[in-house]
Parts: sequence; structure tokens; C-alpha cells
Amino acid sequence: MAIWNLGSINADMVYALPHLPAPGETLAANGLDRFLGGKGANMSVAVARAGARVNHIGAVGSDGRWARDRLTEYGVDTRYIAEVEVPTGHAIIAVDAQGENLIVLYPGANHALDVRQLGQALASANTGDLLVMQNETNAQVEAARLGHELGLTVCYAAAPFQAQAVQAVLPYLDFLILNEVEAEQLQQETGLSAADIPVRHVIVTLGSKGARYLQQGCEPVDFAAHKVQAIDTTGAGDTFTGYVLAGMDRGMPMEQAILQANRAAALMVTRHGTADVIPDLREVRDAQFD
Ligand code: RIB
Ligand code: NA
Repeated sequence: MAIWNLGSINADMVYALPHLPAPGETLAANGLDRFLGGKGANMSVAVARAGARVNHIGAVGSDGRWARDRLTEYGVDTRYIAEVEVPTGHAIIAVDAQGENLIVLYPGANHALDVRQLGQALASANTGDLLVMQNETNAQVEAARLGHELGLTVCYAAAPFQAQAVQAVLPYLDFLILNEVEAEQLQQETGLSAADIPVRHVIVTLGSKGARYLQQGCEPVDFAAHKVQAIDTTGAGDTFTGYVLAGMDRGMPMEQAILQANRAAALMVTRHGTADVIPDLREVRDAQFD
């Protein structure tokens, strides 16, 4: 089996700050690092580090060849990443001393994906493959519909959250993953509580409180998080999703995939940066938690 990821690719400019800036404030950073990022790229790298195959479908500008090369280097299949005449997406990420973040996103090339390219890529997919999307690219609805028609298992990570974006893909989904705040927002805006979402598998991530797995027709199952010293939570959610998908792809029971994803996300929170620092399976297995 394989995983297909219609996903964003960003240059992450990560600024270390004493606190998150207030409106009107000018604040000097203690440091700046550039990482490969984007929720899509982070998920692809997590899948690859977890030992599964992933085809990334996306777009960069001519200024983003390094990002495509780096994904290739990390074991992601990049043949369906197009180069378009729009600058590569980037994110300005402020991280405070507690590891809390704030992100300003420039979508750029991530919103310039040609729908035909999507069709060409998915023409090589096989029934039962997984298709995943997040809310940082265009063509999500086309992808979800096409994936559903082709008999793929269609997964959606509802981040960054927009209720309408979730609603638009909902009829095609087999698997939805969202965080606690997003689940609340979805309920407020659509009246759907997590338990009522008409999708076979739903995972609600609860940050430092762990995750809840809701399978249609079954009692919810809760997973506790590992206690760690948070340095930078950026990319932890994407790492969690990538590890869950890789587990599913490798035929693990969902519960086991979530346990492994929980460990990967906990490790990720202790690391400064995004795609480049996502832990591999060995590190995840060897990690010691209190
Ligand atoms: O989830 C973290 C990601 O969100 C970052 O890598 C940044 O690029 C934004 O897309
Ligand atoms: Na991190």
C-alpha cells in the first residue's frame, strides 16, 4: 500500500522570542532558524520516518527546489510536486520561552496547484491506498471526491481549522483528525459534536492531555499523553497524524498506531523546529518517558 499526501510545503522561519508579540509591539528575537515545514511536508516526513511509503502531491516556486530536494532526501516520493510561477509558501513562526507558538502563513505555491496534476498523480493510486489532506492547499474537495471515487481511504487533518473546509470534504471522508479546540469550533459552527461526526474514524487530539479515538458504533477510547518538557510544539500535531497514517498503512490496529504516534508527538514537542527534526521509528521506540 502507499500513502498519497496532497500537502503544503513551506519554508518555516522560526523566531525564538521571550514572549509572543502583542498588537503594535516591536520585539527582537533571540534567534532565527529556517526549517522545511508546512503541515503537508511535515506529515510526509513523519510518514517516511515511521517507515511507510508516501507520495507527496504539491507545488513549490522556483525558490523552493531546496524543499523538494530535501523531501526526496528524507525518503518522500516527490515526482508529483510541481514547480509553479508563484513563490514557495512560507511561515513566520514565533516560539516563546514556554514553547507556545504563533504562525503567520503565506500560502503562495500551495494555493496554485493544478487540479489536472492531482488527477495524474492519483491515476497511479491503488484501491485501499490512503489519501490525506490538510487545509493548506487548494483542490482539497476535488482530491477528497476523486479519492473516494477511486476507493482510497480518505483522511483529513482539519488544520488550520475552517468549519466550511471540513464540511466541504466531510461526505468523502473515512478518517478525520482534529484537535480539541477545532472540535469545539466545529460543534459551535455546525452543531456536530465529535461523537456525531458522520465519519468512520475520528481522532480528537488533546495536546498535553493525549487523544481520543472515536470509531463509529464503538465507545470512545482515550490515550494519555507522555509528560515532557515542551520546547516547541510546532509540528507535533503533524507528526502525530503522519505516524497514525504510517501505522494504518502498515496494517497496525488503530490503537497501536495511536500509541506510537503519541510517543512521536511527545518527542517532537521537545525539539526546536519542524520537518527536519521529526523523530524516526527507532528514536520513537527507544524514547524513555516518565
Ligand atoms: O503545523 C506546523 C506547520 O504549520 C508549520 O510547519 C508551518 O509551515 C505551518 O504550515
Ligand atoms: Na517542534
